[in-house]
Amino acid sequence: MAKYRIAWLPGDGIGKDVTEAARIVLDRLALDAEYIPGDIGWEFWCKEGDALPQRTLDMMKETDCAFFGAITSKGQDKAEKELAPELQGKGYSYRSPIVRMRQLLDLYICLRPCKAYPGNPLNYKDGIDLVVFRENTEGMYIGVEYPRVPEEFYAVKGMEKIPRHAAISFRAITPEGSERIVRAAFEYARKYNRKKVTAVHKANVLRQTDAVFMEAARKVAAEYPEIAFDDANIDAMCMWLLKNPFNYDVIVTTNLFGDIISDLCAQMVGGMGFGCSGNIGRNYAVFEPTHGSAPKYAGQYKVNPIATILAAKMMLDWLGETDKAAQLEGAVAAVIAEGKVRTYDMGGNASTLDMARAIAEKL
Ligand code: IPM
Ligand code: MG
Repeated sequence: MAKYRIAWLPGDGIGKDVTEAARIVLDRLALDAEYIPGDIGWEFWCKEGDALPQRTLDMMKETDCAFFGAITSKGQDKAEKELAPELQGKGYSYRSPIVRMRQLLDLYICLRPCKAYPGNPLNYKDGIDLVVFRENTEGMYIGVEYPRVPEEFYAVKGMEKIPRHAAISFRAITPEGSERIVRAAFEYARKYNRKKVTAVHKANVLRQTDAVFMEAARKVAAEYPEIAFDDANIDAMCMWLLKNPFNYDVIVTTNLFGDIISDLCAQMVGGMGFGCSGNIGRNYAVFEPTHGSAPKYAGQYKVNPIATILAAKMMLDWLGETDKAAQLEGAVAAVIAEGKVRTYDMGGNASTLDMARAIAEKL
């Protein structure tokens, strides 16, 4: 029996290309793992009305962790039209599989390290090394939305100003949800000797929800006196990050703000070809590149697999295979520094698999 059982979920679009690349490096590292393929993606939405079938979730529960590529998503109107004719009009509604996995498996940490590897021509500034902790289960992602205001909502004070045809989305922030993500950020800072944690919010406008988040953040911060703590509004934070990324270290924030700011941070270290994620809960985790499925590049082996390979590095760390993780990161850094093998986004013409093989050769 292999030491690890890993749910292998390429998804669709370039998800297949980049996970194939990740397997090249994992195989070269001889990770003692069994990779169990799972049905997931747009094709299962079209055939079954569910892009993340229950059998896949059941299979994941029997594994140590999962590795995920990417999945195409479309608005409900378009999604409905692509359903098998016998399923149309039956009330199937499309929900993002990755968001569902995060919620169903309580993967409350979305960890997104953004490091500028020396020699990457796409670095915004050399030396950037930021880590984003995004709350991954609540906030604006709870999926409670209405296309029009339900009549009974007018019982609530303040709603009289809102026209009936307004669409409404809810944002839920709990003290427990806030505390555990902030604590995860501080624990990480302590473990990796990071100097500062910055909590990002919009407390001047979202006066209730972000008051809860910030109260939890201040309470947890007080338990880590050796680590500096500050906070910023999301808008100002975006500006300051660009102005002086070296003022920041670990960033912790709520779900939607974390979604936004992690793309900004990824862009500062080379763009979506470099953004990697770990969705981490108490006993389970799903690793993935931050980017989407880019259907127009699907199957062309054109896109940069480094984001996915760095996600594999995160998985190795999480499994406790820290030597292999460090080797893999060293190999990625060496290939970037040499600059001989570059994918199109980096100004070269190496394919997805050329890049993976170049990294594997350094292992
Ligand atoms: C991400 C993505 C997802 C999100 C999408 C695909 C639903 O943008 O992981 O950042 O919004 O969380
Ligand atoms: Mg995103």
